[in-house]
Amino acid sequence: MIYLDNSATTRPYKEVIDSFNKVSQAFFANPSSIHYLGGEVEQLLQKAKMQAAELLHVGHNELIFTSGGTESNNLAIKGIALQHQNRGKHIITSQVEHPSVLEACAALETIGFEVTYLPVTKYGRVNPSDLESAIRPDTILISIMHVNNEIGVIQPIEEIANIAQKYPKVFFHVDYVQGLGKIPLSLNHPGIDLCSMSSHKIHGLKGTGILYIKSGTVLFPILHGGGQQSSIRPGTENVAGQVAMVKALRITLEQQHEYKRLVQLNKLLRSFLLQEEKVVINSPEDGAAHILNFSVPGYKPEVIIHALGKRDIFISTKSACSSKHSDESAVLAACGLNTARTHSGLRISLSYENTEEEIRQFYQAFKDVLAELQNVMG
Ligand SMILES: Cc1ncc(COP(=O)(O)O)c(C=O)c1O
Repeated sequence: MIYLDNSATTRPYKEVIDSFNKVSQAFFANPSSIHYLGGEVEQLLQKAKMQAAELLHVGHNELIFTSGGTESNNLAIKGIALQHQNRGKHIITSQVEHPSVLEACAALETIGFEVTYLPVTKYGRVNPSDLESAIRPDTILISIMHVNNEIGVIQPIEEIANIAQKYPKVFFHVDYVQGLGKIPLSLNHPGIDLCSMSSHKIHGLKGTGILYIKSGTVLFPILHGGGQQSSIRPGTENVAGQVAMVKALRITLEQQHEYKRLVQLNKLLRSFLLQEEKVVINSPEDGAAHILNFSVPGYKPEVIIHALGKRDIFISTKSACSSKHSDESAVLAACGLNTARTHSGLRISLSYENTEEEIRQFYQAFKDVLAELQNVMG
């Protein structure tokens, strides 16, 4: 099997599964129980949070364990909006955010918030000066992703954080789900207030994630309950899942030097794809090395995906995005690409487990698939 769909999800590390199994069996008590067993589990959970904080260079009381990127994004956006609405009801985001950001913003629009969806360049980049011009006296939140999940464009987060810092009433949230473990981001930048992360994109387990909340930032919780995690995210903690996530985080960050190899694999992939007349590359050259998006205009992406799947090679098409046309990529459309390209986008996404040999085998299979489809189409 050649797995090239790592931005959809990654294969969990063996150590992660071992850790999940061990904690589930040996530390099954409820961390809120006041007896000895509960205390042990609470300690384990706190230790995991401290380790995550150390790895991310933030305070342990600045981290909230969540059920993943979607929840972290919703908690950040709705939490800020609901808590600070007396200051203003305007939010700034971009047209190429993940649906968990776009839909959270759309939901807030239905209850009286106003949202500016910033346009992007043809490579999906937000222009920081557009962003600054969009800030109004009633703006309370900016939410911009770090690495785009479809095309891999890296947004100018530091520049945006510098702008956000000049407006003390405006919070800045970063969706770091696709960048974590690949491209460093300093959460200590004074302009960054909130940051979302998800475990299953870094070889952890699905249904676990982190929201970084800068100390002093107050959120209105989206869940109410038993007071766990300072009542910001109540509910009995997924102890085994979170401990396993911290293991995944540690292993991924230890492997970050391997990113250089992904840059080489990306170059090789590009050079192969550029040999194909029918292919147009949609990802920017200076984008994240682990995501390469390209179109084969005139060819249905799902047909290519299934044909590759039969050869045990797995790539993907656009994520389930909120596009007007169900088979169009909203991200490629926001980049202003023509409909032939927006309807035929394919994404290859790498992890540190992928090898050069796999890229070569993919290309051979891809060429065979194109030739086969060409014959069928006459
Ligand atoms: C950029 C981005 N944000 C958020 C999410 C949602 O994360 P999760 O699957 O953990 O809910 C994803 C998942 O694809 C993503 O790519």
